[in-house]
Amino acid sequence: MIDINKAIEALNWQKEPRGLYEPIEYTLASGGKRVRPTLTLIAAEAIVNGSLLNGDAIEQALPAALALEVFHNFTLMHDDVMDRASVRRGQPTVHVKWNDNTAILSGDQMLIEAYKLLSDVPADKLPQVLKWFNEMATGICEGQQLDVDYEHASQVTIEEYLKMIELKTAVLIANALRTGGYIAGANAAEQQALYEYGRHIGIAFQVQDDILDVYGDPKTFGKAIGGDIVCNKKTILLLTALENADPESKAELLQWLMATDCDAQKIAAVTAIYNRLEVREVCEAVMEEQTALALAELDKLPQNEATEKLRQLAERLVTRNS
Ligand code: IPE
Ligand code: IPE
Ligand code: MG
Ligand code: MG
Ligand code: MG
Repeated sequence: MIDINKAIEALNWQKEPRGLYEPIEYTLASGGKRVRPTLTLIAAEAIVNGSLLNGDAIEQALPAALALEVFHNFTLMHDDVMDRASVRRGQPTVHVKWNDNTAILSGDQMLIEAYKLLSDVPADKLPQVLKWFNEMATGICEGQQLDVDYEHASQVTIEEYLKMIELKTAVLIANALRTGGYIAGANAAEQQALYEYGRHIGIAFQVQDDILDVYGDPKTFGKAIGGDIVCNKKTILLLTALENADPESKAELLQWLMATDCDAQKIAAVTAIYNRLEVREVCEAVMEEQTALALAELDKLPQNEATEKLRQLAERLVTRNS
C-alpha cells in the first residue's frame, strides 16, 4: 500500500520566492488526517481487487489522490481567512502566522499545484477526471458562499444546511472515491456507488465536525473550540436548537446570536443551551442515518479487503475526535 504521507512529503516545494512557497510547505507539513487521498487509493484498491485486471491502477490513482489533498489544503487556507480561525492542526493558521494576503496568494498557488498534479492522471482518464474535479471545485465554492450567507440569514432550514454541507464538504470526499475507482477501471454503477458512499460519509463527516467544534478537545481536534458559535455559523447544532427550543431558550439563543465582543461568554452560554436541549444527541442520530446510507452503497461494490476498509472507515469517521 502506498504511504500517502511519504508521497506528500516527497512533493518538492523548494522554490522562490519563499514568501509564496513557505506557507504551502507549512500547511502540508502540518499533517491532518489525509482522509481524501486515502479514500482515493482505497477506492482504486477495491476495484482492482474486484477485477484483478489492473495491476498498477493503484499507482495510477496517486496523482489524483495528491491533487485532491493539495486542493483540500488550499480550501482550508482560504476557509480560515473566511472563518477568522486562528488555529488549525494545533498550529497558527497561515493568515495569523503571516497575513491575509499570504493566505490568499499561497492558497491560489496551491490550487494551481493541484491542477499540475492532476495532469499526471493517465491520459485516457484525464478528461473525465478533470471534468469531475472542476464540478467538485465549483460545488465547494458554492457551498462556502452559502456557509457565509447563512451566517447572516435568520431562517435556514436543516434541509438547506444539508445541501450546503453536501457542497462544501461531501462533494470532495465523494469525488475522491469516484475518481480513485474510475482510474482503476470501475464501471458506471461502481462509480455511482463510490460517489454516493462518499457523499453520505461526507455529510456525516461535516456533522461530526460541527459537533467537535463545540464538544471537541482542542488538543486532539487541533482547532479553537467554539469558532462556529462566535461566527453565528448555521451549524446543525444551532439549527436543531432553534427548532427544538422552548420559547424562553429560543429567545435567549437569538439574543446571543446578536452578541459580539464577548466570545468566551457567548461560547459558554450557547453551549449551555445546546446541553439543556440535548441537541448533540439529535445531531448524532443524523450522522448515524447518513452512515447507514453510506454502508448500503458498499454492497454494490466488489466485496474484498478494501471494501471492508471502507466499511470500517465509515464507522471510524463519525466517532473520531480529530
Ligand atoms: C476539515 O477537514 C474541513 C472539513 C471538511 C470539516 P479535515 O477534518 O479532513 O481536516 P484535516 O485535513 O484532517 O486537517
Ligand atoms: C469546511 O468547513 C469546508 C471547507 C473548508 C471547504 P469548516 O469551516 O467547518 O471547516 P473547519 O472546521 O474550519 O476545518
Ligand atoms: Mg468554513
Ligand atoms: Mg472553517
Ligand atoms: Mg468546522
